[in-house]
Amino acid sequence: MSQINVNFNNLNQFISDSDFANLQEKINLAHNDLHSKTGRGNDYLGWLDLPQNFPVDLMQRITEATERYRKLYDTFVVIGIGGSYLGAKAIIESLSTPFGEPKSEVIFAGHTLSSHYHSSLLEYLKTKNPAVVVISKSGTTTEPAIAFRLLKDFLRTNFPNDYKQRIMAITDSSKGTLRNFADMEGYTTFSIPDDVGGRFSVLTPVGLVPIALAGFEIAQLVEGAASLSVDTETDLEKNQIYKYAAARYLLHEQGKSMEILSYFEPRLSFFAEWWKQLFGESEGKENKGLFPASACFTTDLHSLGQYIQEGKRNFFETFLTVAEQPHSLKLKKEQFNTDKLNYLEGKSLDFVNQKAFEGTAEAHLEGNVPNLEIRLSHIDEFTLGQLIYFYEKAVAIGGYLLEVNPFDQPGVELYKKNMFRLLGKPS
Ligand code: PA5
Repeated sequence: MSQINVNFNNLNQFISDSDFANLQEKINLAHNDLHSKTGRGNDYLGWLDLPQNFPVDLMQRITEATERYRKLYDTFVVIGIGGSYLGAKAIIESLSTPFGEPKSEVIFAGHTLSSHYHSSLLEYLKTKNPAVVVISKSGTTTEPAIAFRLLKDFLRTNFPNDYKQRIMAITDSSKGTLRNFADMEGYTTFSIPDDVGGRFSVLTPVGLVPIALAGFEIAQLVEGAASLSVDTETDLEKNQIYKYAAARYLLHEQGKSMEILSYFEPRLSFFAEWWKQLFGESEGKENKGLFPASACFTTDLHSLGQYIQEGKRNFFETFLTVAEQPHSLKLKKEQFNTDKLNYLEGKSLDFVNQKAFEGTAEAHLEGNVPNLEIRLSHIDEFTLGQLIYFYEKAVAIGGYLLEVNPFDQPGVELYKKNMFRLLGKPS
């Protein structure tokens, strides 16, 4: 059963029932293209059925390798960029508590070229017993390659006897510099399926290994995704993933150029970053697509709230909300009501947060911002697995509605070409 519920009511004045009904045929075509694997980018559809067919032996290998690492080492540096790090970071942060000891420490590297970041990391690791997981599908991306060179050198210097055992590589099954090097050095390796692109790879070893190293239940994540992947309903009134894709498309057709993912739970911040890559790289091509932005409320209501309420009307908002939190924090009555908050006596902080959401949705609607709500029952591995699949499927259908290839990213190459020229890289 889906733990996700989408409320489209605040779109009523912008999209009519007949607008949705008129799009049904196009949705059916997109669905057929996707499921019969005849649409654009069809060699990258491995993510579609992977959760329901997840190889048992692979799950076992990941579990064994990560349990072994967790016994031997105390800190894991995960090197990767884009689709090779955002999904893992999103899930780990969503499941972690903001203060206190993490189950195991997972640190990310290779997603920036900052020397400040990497030199402080190397300094920090001096007091640790670290292992490194290097992730790159192509095996040639500059940022992670540089970070790997630095960290490999660190391990070789500080742990000369066993540095190779401290390195795990996740990369293409047969090609690329990293695959060749990993095989040569004898690292523990996992393969990224050929037919799964970077931003769709969180439910492959790319995301599952770091998430398992952090101590979370990866089988539950995959199960959550699998529970949605078996649904092949196409009726817009019955399939809320397709209706979300349809709503976004119709708003894009009405001239909206941006979608803001607004959430009231700060631990979803990196989930929003993952979502931004998934939607930005999948749809932003051929001069089409919605720019994916995000806002953490109520924090950002005190920075972006003014613009959202009264600025240029070129966007809509999707609220990602969570119905139940693991802890309840209630406000008590105070004898001297100096802060004038006694009217909230006995109310939970979640209740106040919920009212903040309702008040915000109402205000933004009054400000002529169409909005919808994607409500997650609670946050755990299973529901996050569902949410991942929800968005992956939505963006695939969204790309086909826009008539672009949702599975390539040709525009990411130009900066690299320029950077290599400026660096004097030999051709
Ligand atoms: O979605 C994508 O394909 C990209 O964001 C890649 O994940 C990113 O560029 C990193 O590539 P690689 O894993 O080949 O190092």
